Amino acid sequence: MTAYQASEDRYERMSYVRCGRSGLRLPALSLGLWHNFGGGDAIDNGRSLLRRSFDLGITHFDLANNYGPPPGEAEETFGRIWKSDFAAYRDEMIVATKAGYRMWPGPYGERGSRKSMLASLDRSLMRLGMDYVDIFYSHRYDAETPLEETMSALAQAVRQGKALYVGISNYGPEETRRAAEILRSLGTPCLIHQVHYSMYERRLEQGLQQVLQEEGIGTIAYSPLARGLLTNRYLNGIPADSRAAGASAFLRREDVTEEKLEKSRKLQGVAEMRGQSLAQMAVAWVLRQSRVTSALIGVSRAEQIDDLAGALDQLAFSADELAQIDNILGGKA
Ligand SMILES: NC(=O)c1ccc[n+]([C@@H]2O[C@H](COP(=O)([O-])OP(=O)(O)OC[C@H]3O[C@@H](n4cnc5c(N)ncnc54)[C@H](OP(=O)(O)O)[C@@H]3O)[C@@H](O)[C@H]2O)c1
Repeated sequence: MTAYQASEDRYERMSYVRCGRSGLRLPALSLGLWHNFGGGDAIDNGRSLLRRSFDLGITHFDLANNYGPPPGEAEETFGRIWKSDFAAYRDEMIVATKAGYRMWPGPYGERGSRKSMLASLDRSLMRLGMDYVDIFYSHRYDAETPLEETMSALAQAVRQGKALYVGISNYGPEETRRAAEILRSLGTPCLIHQVHYSMYERRLEQGLQQVLQEEGIGTIAYSPLARGLLTNRYLNGIPADSRAAGASAFLRREDVTEEKLEKSRKLQGVAEMRGQSLAQMAVAWVLRQSRVTSALIGVSRAEQIDDLAGALDQLAFSADELAQIDNILGGKA
């Protein structure tokens, strides 16, 4: 591939939103590398996804120690592409990683102990070929480790200069409140909570959202497209090159149910009336009323990024549109 030169107008279309009460602004769209950056994926496609994203003003790239497959491979791939294409742009990029899920054998290869969290971060930095990440997350709550220990491991990463900010993911409302208090007392406020949120997954609205607002923590919504179900991908069957047809354990053929498809078809009707694709409406919906700082998307091809970036042209919803969507989701339409 030819040498990369970022597009000059890359900051013109994207909007940047203050993350909670921090000084950090995140793009309305962030790119996740959970899929499509593993060992079996073409690195040139990964490169074109990263280039296209950055050219559109997507400055935030989300990883975790275990993304691949095999686990660790997405950080390796990102590190390689960063070195060849983006090294000159490090100060224009937010790179995030996480620890918490199983990475190596034995009792220290997962969960939230100080031992596991800090060893994992060191391994991530090696794979990435970077001195620091911008955001280091606890990927999941670990009831077997005192929360003080996990949170102080995050704060220690910042003191060591290996992370600039810290975040948590998949924590419930009460655990989030306690984590925020501990982190504040350690002088390392919780920047962000990474939470599963889409029209098909609304648990965020049952208490967590309020805690995040009160604590001044930013919200990044992962899988806003319900892993592809809230797009046109499956409306006429399961394409051979789609996630559900592949090896992902998180969207299997049997998850593409007729009930979901029926709802998605009706939602597509609402999207069409708004002049959007279903995927664009799904992104706009999580970002509605500024509840969410950034929508954390996944893509398998560059055209999907172009489509999703178009969501920013039409973020507002009328009360009537929101009611129609709720009726469809609730099975009343
Ligand atoms: N913290 C956590 O525990 C956690 C958990 C899950 C995810 N995440 C983060 O969230 C990121 C996003 O997750 P996700 O990939 O599940 O998100 P998603 O945005 O809900 O789904 C992405 C999939 O939707 C399809 N798609 C995307 N844009 C499209 C478009 N314009 N038109 C049609 N189809 C489109 C693609 O499917 P095809 O591949 O079939 O083309 C793509 O792979 C991950 O990479 C990761 O960083 C975090």
